[in-house]
Amino acid sequence: MDVPKVFTEYAVREEGWEFIPNPALYAEVATPIQKVNTDALLKELCWSYLDDVILDIGCNNGDVTNMLLSKSDQIQHITACDILGPCIEYAKKENDNPKVTYLEMDVSKEWTTSWENKYDKVFSNECLNMILDQETVLKQVFKSLKPGGEFGASYFLQVEGLQTAILTLMGKDKWRKYFQGATKDLRS
Ligand SMILES: C[S@@+](CC[C@H](N)C(=O)[O-])C[C@H]1O[C@@H](n2cnc3c(N)ncnc32)[C@H](O)[C@@H]1O
Repeated sequence: MDVPKVFTEYAVREEGWEFIPNPALYAEVATPIQKVNTDALLKELCWSYLDDVILDIGCNNGDVTNMLLSKSDQIQHITACDILGPCIEYAKKENDNPKVTYLEMDVSKEWTTSWENKYDKVFSNECLNMILDQETVLKQVFKSLKPGGEFGASYFLQVEGLQTAILTLMGKDKWRKYFQGATKDLRS
């Protein structure tokens, strides 16, 4: 199947995804959609947050991390990490909160042992599809959770057909209206 090339000024996709650090543009173009997705995910998860210590994998500019934090004043702390240094710097400035620590980190590399049995919840919105070695990451997620801890994540699929189908529909007159706001800066 032909896979459309996608270019936005914060992400490029030919074979896999490559993210270009542009957290301000991400805030304008992607955050509104990611907040809708995250809201839907969190509704499904029905988490209680009492004294929770949370890890957010692939936080980009921290907007969604901040939204997660806003779900409960009972959350104790969120560690939010992303592979892109400039996004972490932006998050530290624009989404600064004493309850959040932002870290530049490649989650597909080995995690510090100090994270073992540390988290009540591990959360990730639309990041795991970018990680080739998901098994290694998921094993580390498991080790990082406290007994009874929970992992809630969206978008594991690396199935090319799914992206292709969405992007193809976005380009068609009949369906375009349903993707309003999602097509900005998107060329295929
Ligand atoms: C589509 S964005 C989602 C950002 C945020 N969770 C949200 O909902 O807006 C995916 C993020 O995953 C990050 N990412 C991809 N691979 C990663 C890795 N190996 N380690 C850490 N972050 C990664 C990217 O840099 C990007 O910021």
